Amino acid sequence: MKIGILKEHADSRVAMLPETVAALKKLKVEVIMEKGAGEGAFAPDEAYTEAGAEILGRSEVVKQADVLVQITPPSDDEMKNLREGQALISMLNPLGEPDRVKALRDWGVTAFSLELIPRISRAQAMDVLSSMATVAGYKAVLEAANTLPTFFPMFMSAAGTIKPAKVLILGAGVAGLQAIAIARKLGAVVEVFDVRSAVKEEVKSLGGKFIEVEGAVEDAAAGGYAVEQTEEFKQKQQQMIQDHAADANVVIATAQIPGRKAPVLVKKETVERMKPGSVIIDLAASSGGNCEMTQNNRIISHNNVTIVGKSNYPAEMPADASKMFGRNLLNFLKLIIDEEGGMNLDFEDEIVKGTCLVHQKEIVNERVKSIIKP
Ligand code: NAI
Repeated sequence: MKIGILKEHADSRVAMLPETVAALKKLKVEVIMEKGAGEGAFAPDEAYTEAGAEILGRSEVVKQADVLVQITPPSDDEMKNLREGQALISMLNPLGEPDRVKALRDWGVTAFSLELIPRISRAQAMDVLSSMATVAGYKAVLEAANTLPTFFPMFMSAAGTIKPAKVLILGAGVAGLQAIAIARKLGAVVEVFDVRSAVKEEVKSLGGKFIEVEGAVEDAAAGGYAVEQTEEFKQKQQQMIQDHAADANVVIATAQIPGRKAPVLVKKETVERMKPGSVIIDLAASSGGNCEMTQNNRIISHNNVTIVGKSNYPAEMPADASKMFGRNLLNFLKLIIDEEGGMNLDFEDEIVKGTCLVHQKEIVNERVKSIIKP
């Protein structure tokens, strides 16, 4: 089997670094790569050649590869060059962009969408969403510290004592937990809010103070994800967030319910009660934002509060983001590569079945199938 690595369009990451290519070669797989695909992540073509990849032009990679890998999906025009039976592994945003799913299905492409990897322990080493959220949580804190006009840590200096920054983190999933750890390392006082009480102990062990609002709806069947809350709860929560945000210097918002618009937790009036110079980093910007005022991929200022809506932090740390992505991808590929380096799709395996979006002109993933009508 030949795996083809494509260059990203507007992103400095790459789906595989040379280390992943070398690991694939050991699995008897051939690797071809688009010229310059690793440049943005500081991996030159020569390093790929040394690892065993053949460097080609883009159209040749698309033509020759049995499996194409790219972090962001190829454009609609490019999708038309994929051939029946060819496989594509990417982050295809199937719930947000259903038309692409239908197009891939109708072309007869076998597509795997890495966002669909089930969050079960066996799949942890393949979970690209967690890897990218880890990068985002880390970068969010650094961005906040860079933007804030005051220090993060407490200082006892000859010029007197400087109080530590107060950071309020909304949502303690992967990005939120990483943000807690980094903000604490930088010396901030950290408060954390989440609707899932299961995260309370983890928050505490990282040095955050868990704020509770009674009456949250939780569902064990949601696989570790949050579910929609009642109106009464949302109102109580608004008030609590407003009180704590008014006292904070930084709000890092990471709340999400998969497949839905992000819950709005920070209203305009809350922003207006925040201290001048405060910073909101809204990681949920691309799904509507946890702050009512966030604008996707923009940094704005309202009432002397800076609201950062960057939605691709991983691209700002391309080397390690690519390393993590490539390692996750390799672990996934191992499930579909046989002993001779060929492709073997075992749809009895819940990870293969759950991640497969379309195969032989059918939608495979059950959740996507139930949402996308023919
Ligand atoms: P996750 O699902 O692991 O965590 C989200 C957390 O939000 C969960 O713990 C959940 O219980 C909590 N939550 C849901 N509704 C809530 C509510 N109403 N109030 C408080 N907490 C609530 O998600 P993950 O992987 O940590 O991602 C977080 C966000 O970061 C997502 O929106 C994701 O798309 C985004 N992201 C942004 C990036 C960027 O560069 N801006 C890069 C990667 C991820």
